[in-house]
Amino acid sequence: MLIRDFVPSDAQKIVEILKANQQYGHPELDGPEAMLRVHKCPAAEFLVAEEDMQVVGFIRGVYDGSRAVIHIASVQPEYQRRGIGKALVLEIAKRFKERGATSLMVTVPGEADFWRKLSFRVTTRIMTAYPIELLIQRLEEEVKKAAPARQEEA
Ligand SMILES: CC(C)(COP(=O)(O)OP(=O)(O)OC[C@H]1O[C@@H](n2cnc3c(N)ncnc32)[C@H](O)[C@@H]1OP(=O)(O)O)[C@@H](O)C(=O)NCCC(=O)NCCS
Repeated sequence: MLIRDFVPSDAQKIVEILKANQQYGHPELDGPEAMLRVHKCPAAEFLVAEEDMQVVGFIRGVYDGSRAVIHIASVQPEYQRRGIGKALVLEIAKRFKERGATSLMVTVPGEADFWRKLSFRVTTRIMTAYPIELLIQRLEEEVKKAAPARQEEA
């Protein structure tokens, strides 16, 4: 098994793996264009695993200078339960530690037992606002409504 950095030509194979694992519900978050943006993001680690000269799994996450977070991991169904997921988590953990991370979180529990087995424990509740446009619209309205009151106070 080879673990290496993602290159743009891996994108299509990763889409196939995500589809096979029913993880491709949000192409805008996980599709080829998003992959290219992650690839260029200096805070991100984006790794793939190769077996038999082909990509069979990947993992990606970010380290913001304080906390490291894995956002998604996926292994092609025929290659699961052979240690590939574990090897991907090990490599990304080493990369984040090299950058200065002292802990590692995962936001997508998916196969929670897999993460539990690797010693991850539930500590925080992740809350999501999706799509972000709705959140911004709502907050803009609320902030606008509150503005006159703030002016009166001043
Ligand atoms: C979760 C996933 C990435 C694990 O990859 P994998 O290559 O199959 O995992 P490994 O073979 O490295 O397994 C590591 C350990 O976890 C265990 N494990 C793996 N999947 C498990 C599961 N679904 N339930 C319980 N234990 C699991 C393995 O038995 C192994 O235990 P061991 O160390 O005692 O032998 C893979 O199954 C997958 O892609 N699943 C679908 C997508 C998903 O849910 N991704 C995670 C959310 S982001």
